[in-house]
Amino acid sequence: MAESIFIPDSASKAEKYEAILPQVEALISTETDTYANLANVSAVLKEAFGFFWVGFYLVKQGELVLGPFQGPLACTRIRLGKGVCGTAWDKAKTQLVPDVEAFPGHIACSSASQSEIVVPGFKNGEVWIVLDVDSDQLDDFDLTDQEYLEKLMQLVDRYC
Ligand code: SME
Repeated sequence: MAESIFIPDSASKAEKYEAILPQVEALISTETDTYANLANVSAVLKEAFGFFWVGFYLVKQGELVLGPFQGPLACTRIRLGKGVCGTAWDKAKTQLVPDVEAFPGHIACSSASQSEIVVPGFKNGEVWIVLDVDSDQLDDFDLTDQEYLEKLMQLVDRYC
């Protein structure tokens, strides 16, 4: 297994995503443990982009339960339709939120979070996990993040 990842220094956001996706695939396709893989995916995203909070919530017995993450302490359980994560699960659709204060029902795990993107993952057509990324800046995520994080979640669905 690779012990480090290569992230080009001066690369644009899209170039960074292009560089890390094959490395993530190499990393997680050779390990079968779901939590080990999710932990490393969180670490790679944190290292590549310095996200304020990045991690996973997994669907367990009818609610989302906190999984591997990088960043400050987070809430452990989220119900269907609640907050940005519960909405991404309910609607089975990525939620791109430029200002969390303007999102009805947003769950503030940290008062420093200002914008957020949540991307669901699918197994057998059902959401089984969501990737949550938080920023302490307003409007920090765009369609480039959405495009590449959705591609990354296809790898997570396949290998985790
Ligand atoms: N803000 C999320 C809750 C999870 S934390 O941000 C890590 C939400 O509204 O679902």
